[in-house]
Amino acid sequence: MEREHFNSRIGMLLAMVGSAVGLGNIWRFPYLVGEYGGAAFIIVYLFFVVVFAVPIMLAEFTIGRRSQTNAYRAFGKLAPGTGWKWLGILPVICPVMILAFYNVVGGWSIHYLIKSFTFTHGADRAVLGEMFDNYVTSVGIPIIETIIFILLTAFVVKGGVKSGIEKCGKIMMPVLFIIILGLAIWVAFLPGAGEGILFLFKPDFSKISGDMCLAALGQSFFSLSVGMGAMLTYSSFVPKSENLMSSSAKVAVSDFFFAILASCAVMPAAFSFNVDPGQGPGLVFETLPFIFSQMHAGPVIAALFFFSVVIAALTSTVSLFEVGVNYFIEEFGITRRRAVIIECLILAVLSAVCSLSCGIWGDFKILGNNVFDTFDKFTSNIAMPLGGLMTCLFVGWKMKKPDVRDELTNGGSIASNVRIYPVIYFLVRYIAPVGIIAIIIANFL
Ligand code: TRP
Repeated sequence: MEREHFNSRIGMLLAMVGSAVGLGNIWRFPYLVGEYGGAAFIIVYLFFVVVFAVPIMLAEFTIGRRSQTNAYRAFGKLAPGTGWKWLGILPVICPVMILAFYNVVGGWSIHYLIKSFTFTHGADRAVLGEMFDNYVTSVGIPIIETIIFILLTAFVVKGGVKSGIEKCGKIMMPVLFIIILGLAIWVAFLPGAGEGILFLFKPDFSKISGDMCLAALGQSFFSLSVGMGAMLTYSSFVPKSENLMSSSAKVAVSDFFFAILASCAVMPAAFSFNVDPGQGPGLVFETLPFIFSQMHAGPVIAALFFFSVVIAALTSTVSLFEVGVNYFIEEFGITRRRAVIIECLILAVLSAVCSLSCGIWGDFKILGNNVFDTFDKFTSNIAMPLGGLMTCLFVGWKMKKPDVRDELTNGGSIASNVRIYPVIYFLVRYIAPVGIIAIIIANFL
């Protein structure tokens, strides 16, 4: 069977940007910025994007496009008969673990989208906070909404690479951009918004710490979808003629831009209404509803905002979902439809467990964290750095040098890539691995 490829360059890019831009940008990035003191975090984050995340993305692109197969088989195909093939296990397990909790947050977003029309004007903060707590700890509704979200993802992936994934990105990403841009502009005119903007752009370097560096590193991987086989899988659908370096740069720039734009929509609003921007994961689901409820146009703004959260999350889950589906199709020779159904069933169970761990199963703890947090922390702090590390070692030390160069410069035919190539290779071979190891060790000290 011939492998499907992306149809157009813009479609391919939007699918990749869609994978990168997600809850990581709209939900996680703003609260991390709030928690770790604003601009200093952004600068450290940006540094990690350039020296670690982008080189790893290029390493994934190299493996994916070279091997023309799923993330599980790719390593073994490029280094036959070696132990490297076991690396393929990471991209089979980890995307599922991310999806398990990510889908739950997707479900919450659907809930708030529906709810947004009912935020009563002038509602009390405590009431809204309580509403969130009651909702996430309840049994039925969050699970149902999570499953609706899983089905939405499944619907897109069922359509295949061209008419599912590519089309979804092409429609959703421009819509997302317009909504978030509109919100950011609107928020900038709220009274007191300037303070929030200052917080975002004025660095306080005393806030830099080991803990913050690990958070920034984890976030750079999470946000650019690297270390987990998603970009590897997408790049296996990329035509040979495409320029991988320029694609990765475009994805990274757009992703950063979206994260900043989303922060510009969230942070100044928090300052304007005197709420603490450093309160963590509840920022988007507790604080923003409060802010929306204080405004006359609140319900409309809230609906737009949560709609954008849903579509941002969706284009990301599609990329993670496809990793597993591609694996099932190619390794077990089943149809796409069947692969999608299997993956849906697995995810429905795992996501339901994550959802329940926020409520009635909250007492079951692994190293002090409930299942939801365990999946979140394990994937961002351990699996992704480890996956990124191994990907770099594979491309930098195991793959044949001419093969890597050939893939990244299209056989030497792109002059600018030929020039930058030594820098990228150096980053992949030495800097990224050493840096990742250092940060992991620093975290244990
Ligand atoms: N990048 C997405 C976000 O920012 C999440 C995501 C999608 C992801 N695919 C991934 C994270 C693959 C790691 C690996 O929300």
